[in-house]
Amino acid sequence: MKLPRQFYRPLALGAPEPYRELPVRLERMIHFVPPHIEKVRAKVPELVGQVDVVLGNLEDAIPADAKAAAREGFIALAKSIDFGATGLWTRINALNSPWMLDDVTEIVAAVGDKLDVVMLPKVEGPWDIHYLDQLLAQLEARHAVRRPILIHAILETAEGVKNVDAIACASPRLHGMSLGPADLAASRGMKTTRVGGGHPDYRVLADATGDGSPRIAAQQDPWHYTIARMVDACQANGLKAFYGPFGDFSDPEACEAQFRNAFLLGCAGAWSLHPSQIAIAKKVFSPDAAEVAFARRILEAMPDGTGAVMIDGKMQDDATWKQAKVIVDLARSVAR
Ligand code: GLV
Ligand code: MG
Repeated sequence: MKLPRQFYRPLALGAPEPYRELPVRLERMIHFVPPHIEKVRAKVPELVGQVDVVLGNLEDAIPADAKAAAREGFIALAKSIDFGATGLWTRINALNSPWMLDDVTEIVAAVGDKLDVVMLPKVEGPWDIHYLDQLLAQLEARHAVRRPILIHAILETAEGVKNVDAIACASPRLHGMSLGPADLAASRGMKTTRVGGGHPDYRVLADATGDGSPRIAAQQDPWHYTIARMVDACQANGLKAFYGPFGDFSDPEACEAQFRNAFLLGCAGAWSLHPSQIAIAKKVFSPDAAEVAFARRILEAMPDGTGAVMIDGKMQDDATWKQAKVIVDLARSVAR
């Protein structure tokens, strides 16, 4: 059985491994840029060090007649900028599109050594990952790329959600997965034109009051089920899960609330499609200082991670030690 990476520690009593820090790359926001637009390209150097990941988008939102320009623009960016610790990703076109093959072959040939992750849209099953895995292996060998380029799958079709567990263990090259709520809504036949977030009509009514006062209606999160499935599939295979896009740039509060749900359920980050969403993602996907302080108290109270103690009236044991470790690990990587 394969254990999620963060819980590898000896279980045998007498051989406790106290707190251990893991090398985690921060990816709180995957910041999308359209590389065919020269004005946008000119501003990318300012993003280095300000965002955790810069992603050159070649797929949806890039017009068909600008696909080649976007690919060339991305290659120019990758060649001319030192991204340092900032991740460099691209979202290629879908496997069944006329552009995907050129996206991968041209980009790996030109800048394979600088590329961290290829985001693959509309993944439906492990076969899609196998194909890209082999193609990348061939191109890495041909162009003597020195480290493996990772694959990140977008979960955005009903078929993909059905096969999420098989997708998550399709290749050691997998980095993680993002929810794609816009395509997924279409694929499922959901009745919405929104990109992520809630919907005013997706709600539960409290019981009728009987006294004429209005019934309370609470909106529900239409993405809860998919995020939970994605997180389980990812964590069970040592991958990271991400919330995808939130399309209403005029509602930062709703964006923050949606990102926070994803964070609490286990996601590592979200996409930022607009500069205003960078700070939102940074805030949400970095742990809260009070929470970190409390988590540290748990780790200190149980140095070998076993037993039971009370802190501020709350019971702590081996399981809450693991919860605390998740939060402190994240805090340490944020502080780095
Ligand atoms: C993202 O690609 C989405 O479809 O939501
Ligand atoms: Mg999509």
